[in-house]
Amino acid sequence: EKGGYEHFMLKEIYEQPNAILDTFRGRLLAKEAIIKMAGIEDNMKKFLNADRIIIVACGTSWHAGLVSEYIFEDLARIPVEVEYASEFRYRNPIITEKDIVIAISQSGETADTLAAIKLAKSKGAFVFGVCNVVGSSIARESDAGAYTHAGPEIGVASTKAFTTQITVLTLMALRLARAKGTISSSDFRHHLIELELIPDKVKKALESDAYVNSVADIYKDAKNCLYLGRGFNFPVALEGALKLKEISYIHAEGYPAAEMKHGPIALIDEQMPVIVIATKKGHYEKVVSNIQEIKSRKGKIIGIVTEGDESVKNLADHVIEVPESSEFLTPLLTTIPLQLLSYHIAVKLGKNVDQPRNLAKSVTVE
Ligand code: F6R
Repeated sequence: EKGGYEHFMLKEIYEQPNAILDTFRGRLLAKEAIIKMAGIEDNMKKFLNADRIIIVACGTSWHAGLVSEYIFEDLARIPVEVEYASEFRYRNPIITEKDIVIAISQSGETADTLAAIKLAKSKGAFVFGVCNVVGSSIARESDAGAYTHAGPEIGVASTKAFTTQITVLTLMALRLARAKGTISSSDFRHHLIELELIPDKVKKALESDAYVNSVADIYKDAKNCLYLGRGFNFPVALEGALKLKEISYIHAEGYPAAEMKHGPIALIDEQMPVIVIATKKGHYEKVVSNIQEIKSRKGKIIGIVTEGDESVKNLADHVIEVPESSEFLTPLLTTIPLQLLSYHIAVKLGKNVDQPRNLAKSVTVE
């Protein structure tokens, strides 16, 4: 059942190239330069007239929401807010009939997310579900939706659900951008071709596994860990930290790299591993200067870089390469080594990676 892998989590990490491909299938037609998504086509007027999109989710799904906030705003120029479902539902939120609420949930059963969409519906908002489990409560409660086709996710720590959520939301953003005319037809065409290349690039990113394993050996006894990223990769830093916390029980925090100097930099010493996502194009120069600040305080730097990178290599203690890609697609690649790093550290510490303590696969109580 684990297909020769030692744990479901590792199997699911390795399933990502196919899971992303399955999520494209029938939707992304790069040659014809078309994105087909029935849930969007059938409700195009609503999407085009929406004042804003409110994304509600929890945990890793909330991180996928944050990544898509950057993508929706950049490509489709629609204002997006991303809310923890638990906070949204209890703070008397302002919701109107011109709002679209997108609920993201792997299980489709998360109590707070379900309650958030019921509230949004009662105020007249249009609710769009992005779920993995077919026929789940959130999928049924939504007015329309698009499934991720990740297949069953057994490991409690979410991996392929996250990357397929980003895939669906990217397809939606591109479709809407085209409909709104916020990107040119040649850019649209180019983005589709780049997106189609992602599964192979994820495969390539997985080839860093043995090296990531050796990095895990060095840092497995760390008590704390920082994850930094900017732009599209800021939410990936949050997700990397969550993965490490939940399965290895090492305290970890994710930050936008530039926030370091507003407090967290006080934590840096020679005991502190700092994982920095520093892909080319993504505010690269600024991230390199953030790395210099960490280095001068003797922090240990693990850089997630674009293949062939030189500047970060000269500064960092370790670099893990991912293939080059359009900036807005890099989260699908930079996530991979962070998943592997958490996995290997947790295994080396003898933790139960598939069923971490205190956690359940779906949180059906608030
Ligand atoms: C983390 C994790 C959780 C879930 C969260 C939401 O690895 O799995 O943070 O992402 O409980 O679950 P869903 O997506 O099922 O609503």
